[in-house]
Amino acid sequence: MPRTVKTMGQQFGRRSWAEPWKIKMVEPIRLLSREERERALREAGYNTFLLRSEDVYIDLLTDSGTGAMSDRQWAGIMLGDEAYAGSRNFYHLEEAVRTYYGYRYVVPTHQGRGAEHLLSQAVIKPGQYVPGNMYFTTTRLHQELAGGIFEDVIIDEAHDPTNLHPFKGDVDLDKLESLIRRVGAENIAYVSLAGTVNMAGGQPVSMGNVRALRELCDRYGIRIYLDATRMMENAFFIQEREEGYADKSIAEILKEFCSYTDGAWMSAKKDNLVNIGGWLAVNDRELFDTLRNMVVVYEGLHTYGGMSGRDMEALAIGIEEAVQDDYVRARVGQVRYLGDLLDNWDIPFVKPVGGHGIFLDAKRFYPHIPQDQFPAQTLAAELYRESGVRSMERGIVSAGRDPKTGDHRRPALELTRLAIPRRVYTQAHMDVVAEAIKAVYDAREQAKGLRMVYEPKYLRFFQARFEPIE
Ligand code: F0G
Repeated sequence: MPRTVKTMGQQFGRRSWAEPWKIKMVEPIRLLSREERERALREAGYNTFLLRSEDVYIDLLTDSGTGAMSDRQWAGIMLGDEAYAGSRNFYHLEEAVRTYYGYRYVVPTHQGRGAEHLLSQAVIKPGQYVPGNMYFTTTRLHQELAGGIFEDVIIDEAHDPTNLHPFKGDVDLDKLESLIRRVGAENIAYVSLAGTVNMAGGQPVSMGNVRALRELCDRYGIRIYLDATRMMENAFFIQEREEGYADKSIAEILKEFCSYTDGAWMSAKKDNLVNIGGWLAVNDRELFDTLRNMVVVYEGLHTYGGMSGRDMEALAIGIEEAVQDDYVRARVGQVRYLGDLLDNWDIPFVKPVGGHGIFLDAKRFYPHIPQDQFPAQTLAAELYRESGVRSMERGIVSAGRDPKTGDHRRPALELTRLAIPRRVYTQAHMDVVAEAIKAVYDAREQAKGLRMVYEPKYLRFFQARFEPIE
């Protein structure tokens, strides 16, 4: 009997979709033997950040700087104007940010955290609060290093991996207003708003929420700065889920969303489709002057900010490619495809599926491993051991320690993230990843936790080392 093979479209009752690009250049990858993977994992201290990329088969560590550039972007690389000052590529980048994000003034930086550093130092006074829709590791650290106190004001639904709220990235306006009343508007540095909230599982913010946030902040004279790192994906969810946006383009939605904010910082390594780069953009002239002065101290001249001319050219082109509706639909569609496969096997992960990856729910995956034995770290290690697939911990290790008490911060979400690089892997790779996760899930009862044996002071998840608990 011939096997009936169904395309994804048939399985889901519609015509199949496909990526709006084809592959012109390939990079070979290979799977090490189980013994070699065991050794690599041990040498890496059970931390996937410490693995060598050569030892990884399918690399879902991050969607940051790992995307594939287009032929147009590579052609742009040849147009690099490597002048120290006034490179024409900078003006192209500035034009692209103004056109698609709508901010007036643009400061280039080497990547997102460079922009976070400048913004935090420029606008936070020591002791001020910085409310945000869930923390991000580097963002919060820069806010704290500037003397700020981060306060989470995301809606409660975001902390529940099973809650199906369509906009789990929304700010809880009541939480925000009671913070403002408690500490006074003058003690709020700004609202730190992120699109497609990374630590919540890639969950979007609705247009209705950012509009209402603007009104609230206007009443108190508080500014809103946007982490625009994954705003294209956020715009896609608005187009799909929010009333009145189905007929608007990603570009239109992006621009409207940004119009409710006072500025943005960007890790261009994600949504802007480049391997390195970032920027900071604001509407306020005085703040721009401050930032433009600071960038020369920490990043580079204000017309390159740590990027080469060719990087800025690829970035300017990447911004334009990233707002194309068919591209964003295929990007999020691939993430969903992986989610649908896992769902067939009832594997626990954060729902709804987010914009940039699948976040396995390690608490439900390994209910027998206490949070202090790092279940999400364990899951990332087990997945690599089983399959050579690399993922990343997004739980207690990533959350770090409370600067006041020195104790672990224990987040409600204990997740292992499989971030999908943009335009890199095929559907067949996603099938292999899903089967690998299934194998680890089937062996879940045998898994044992980890003990941390080396802990760096800042952003410990990058370099911490672990040993298995026997
Ligand atoms: N903001 C968000 C939401 C991010 O996800 C990142 C980086 C940054 C800021 C910092 O930008 O890396 O260019 O300095 N996230 C990467 C990740 C590292 O894997 O999620 P950067």
